[in-house]
Amino acid sequence: MTMMKLTVAPLAPANADVDLLAVIVDDPAQLPAQVADLDASLDGLLTRELARGQVKADAASIVVVTGPASGPRRIALVGHGPFEDGRNDALRVAGSKIAGAVRASESRTAAIAASEDLADVDALVTGFVLGAFRIHKHTAAKADDADRYAGPEALTIVGNDAALGEVARTAQTLAEAQNWARDLANAPANLLMPIDLAREARELADAHEHLSFTELDREQIEAAGMGMFAAVAQGSVDEPRLIALEWNPPGATEADDARLALVGKAVMFDTGGISIKPSGGMEDMKLDKSGGCAVLGAMRAIAETNVPRRVLAVVGSTTNMPDGNAYRPGDVVTAMDGTTVEIISTDAEGRLVLGDCITWAKQRGCGAIVEASTLTGAMVIALGHRYTGAIGKKGAFRDAVVAAGTEIGDHAWPMPMHDEYKANLKTACADMKNSGGRDGGALSAGSFLGHFAQDTPFVHLDVAGTAMLPKPRMWYGAKGASGAAVRLMVQLARTWHA
Ligand code: BES
Ligand code: MN
Ligand code: ZN
Repeated sequence: MTMMKLTVAPLAPANADVDLLAVIVDDPAQLPAQVADLDASLDGLLTRELARGQVKADAASIVVVTGPASGPRRIALVGHGPFEDGRNDALRVAGSKIAGAVRASESRTAAIAASEDLADVDALVTGFVLGAFRIHKHTAAKADDADRYAGPEALTIVGNDAALGEVARTAQTLAEAQNWARDLANAPANLLMPIDLAREARELADAHEHLSFTELDREQIEAAGMGMFAAVAQGSVDEPRLIALEWNPPGATEADDARLALVGKAVMFDTGGISIKPSGGMEDMKLDKSGGCAVLGAMRAIAETNVPRRVLAVVGSTTNMPDGNAYRPGDVVTAMDGTTVEIISTDAEGRLVLGDCITWAKQRGCGAIVEASTLTGAMVIALGHRYTGAIGKKGAFRDAVVAAGTEIGDHAWPMPMHDEYKANLKTACADMKNSGGRDGGALSAGSFLGHFAQDTPFVHLDVAGTAMLPKPRMWYGAKGASGAAVRLMVQLARTWHA
């Protein structure tokens, strides 16, 4: 699927030699002029279909009809709306619906006829590529595998404008990087271990001249004094990794301490450790690496689209297991920055791994940190699956993070980081404890991380609800990993300045 060939060409819809031609219908009362010839060659079939009222102005809706003897094999009339989150949002859903129709008809080639508005094309391509994503199914090899439908091979955007090609290809690059992050996040924990994730990051760096890779193994994590990260990792035989990527494009002038840092949680599986989780639905905890995978996906897109600013990425990867050697509730561990932490729940492991990654990022140099993690069940309760919680102090950086998400359709909602939430982490035994209880649980978790960021502008993106989809929703096309926060982080890297 990542091989899909995307072109922009001034096809005449009536002669388009494609398996499926999708036509965006802005106003169902009126057939788009672009397809008047096509309608004529079908004796007014398209006009009659619109008159039946199944293509709507206020709902994502699609009607597929058979094409003329010569020309597109199928024609999909696509209605869109509502516009609760803007037109682009509705068009991403429409793009995803088109991908669904392409799959249902096993089309190998498709074209989309829409307006030549750049934002429209960006949204349609994004939705199409994300909607075409399918979860990797681990099937026994069969002789006829080669014949199995593998998704669209080519997509043509009907258009003339030279700028369209650039916009369409960038949208494709970002959405494919997001789909890559989804594949990584969906991988079972026995097949993708921290060392494998590190290998993926190394291969990414090998493929890009200005991207460099660093990793720390268990010994180095311990030697660096990352007592929180090491404590989580000590219960698992899977070797942990701190994975770092640095993007240094030629011409970028920021100093180390003025670059953006992306930090991500890659807990390859979260059993809860000794504070073990209930077994029902526990298989979903393979998705606890989603934030770290999103950081890698963002770095791929940043490198592939040559974002002209320096970026540091740090991913903490381990597996949270109960074991004879596992850390326990009541343990007191010392963080890399010297903070002592009493473990209340070994299931509040993400903040421990991340706190030390944030300290490492600060030592390496950065001017602001955005961090993505499936950190709390409380965030799933709070915001469900549409908005990522963007927890940070009031101010320009949190505003920039939320704005970046809005601009690129990877939605986040601002939530508070206030010392009153941090007060929930007080304990008699140490500087902090790792769980502040149920009330405002997502916010005390964010405050825990904010402690390690100190005065560096910091936003914690809790993607627990948005990165893990219990059913296919919005424009994503499949349940499981959504790759939430990938495009937000790319857009932030493009727009944020120290
Ligand atoms: N990875 C989980 C959070 C999570 C839960 C993500 C459900 C997605 C769906 C995290 O490590 C965790 O277990 N958090 C605990 C924290 C608590 C022990 C303070 C939680 O949310 O219950
Ligand atoms: Mn946990
Ligand atoms: Zn977790």
